[in-house]
Amino acid sequence: MASLPRVTLVLGTRPEAIKLAPVILAFQASPLFETRVVLTGQHKEMVAQVMQLFQLQAQRDLELMTPRQTLTHVTCAALEGLRLEFGENRPDLVLVQGDTTTAFAAALAAFYDQIPVGHVEAGLRTNNLFDPFPEEANRRLISQVAQLHFAPTTESAKNLQASGVVGEIHTTGNTVIDALLLMAAAAPRCDVPGLDWQKHRVILATVHRRENWGAPLKHIAMGFLKVLERHPDTALLLPLHKNPTVREPLQEWLGDHPRVFLTEPLDYDRLVAAIRGCTLLLTDSGGLQEEAPSLGKPVLVLRRTTERPEAVEAGTAKLIGTSTEAIEAETCLLLENKAAYEAMAMAHNPFGDGKASERIVAASAAYLQTTSK
Ligand code: UD1
Repeated sequence: MASLPRVTLVLGTRPEAIKLAPVILAFQASPLFETRVVLTGQHKEMVAQVMQLFQLQAQRDLELMTPRQTLTHVTCAALEGLRLEFGENRPDLVLVQGDTTTAFAAALAAFYDQIPVGHVEAGLRTNNLFDPFPEEANRRLISQVAQLHFAPTTESAKNLQASGVVGEIHTTGNTVIDALLLMAAAAPRCDVPGLDWQKHRVILATVHRRENWGAPLKHIAMGFLKVLERHPDTALLLPLHKNPTVREPLQEWLGDHPRVFLTEPLDYDRLVAAIRGCTLLLTDSGGLQEEAPSLGKPVLVLRRTTERPEAVEAGTAKLIGTSTEAIEAETCLLLENKAAYEAMAMAHNPFGDGKASERIVAASAAYLQTTSK
């Protein structure tokens, strides 16, 4: 019997793990493939959490994470490690997700070995090469070496056409919705010691982006404090990223406030519960901009640009930047004005129907059938 085509999914960070989990499950459920999962180890604990939650196991872990690692280290170590992996277990197709340095290095490593690359969540663009940094460049570079482009929306498919990519473009929806629906079905809870979900209107916040390190981070923290001061019925739930560059200053500025709840990164099921339970979100995360609209929660985006204009156009997200004044004004508006809140809280989800993974598996099967002839 001829052996099955091998599909290797490479991932390194928490958002890749969340967004590839339903794709891995769908490939594993298909009789048409041999599926391999390879971790670069760009993130350690934060990926382990997700793998455990979705009951996934990796066949290899390059374990490349070092404290305060540089982009150069992540890129070089992933390229070297993947050369070995692809040499020993040559894939017929390599899948990467998104715009991290792991995704870029994995696409390049596959390209160097002349292995076709499929790009999940392809075609997002801000058109500002340095914002977000280095993600805008990473996703553009991946687009140039990939053969299968899985665009989450028609807008991202158009961006790919405009980028002059080679290969097939498939509009699939975003796999984050598949992951979200898998989790939400289990009706998770998010218990945090001292936080009373009944008593407080909870603001869920996350910050981690490189563009926001330093002064912007301080302005953001001061904005949070202003909102808490003006609204004694609110509480701030802020799961801290593992990166010391962001967590240490946030702990210093916010750690003592009685209505600030700083936690470790939440398991994905608890995060989904927190989105459900909160009043609104303040975040610089891309994934949360996609998840929150699905659960009918307004998102104030702590950035100047977004590669997810769909949420802004749909009215569920608003770009507010990082100034203390903007954070105070925009958050208080939503807390004080019912009509403004409800206009943003309408549950409209432009990002998908929960079937993106199925479409990715079907398009990959069709592609491999054509290329193996
Ligand atoms: C990375 C991605 C970013 C993504 C984000 C999600 C790049 C360039 N950036 O940024 O696109 O939005 O992940 O989180 O690929 N750390 C730990 N344990 C962990 C994870 C991280 O200790 O489980 C610490 C390490 O000290 C590491 C630091 O966090 O040096 C930064 O991690 P890194 O992957 O370099 O950057 P992120 O800011 O996480």
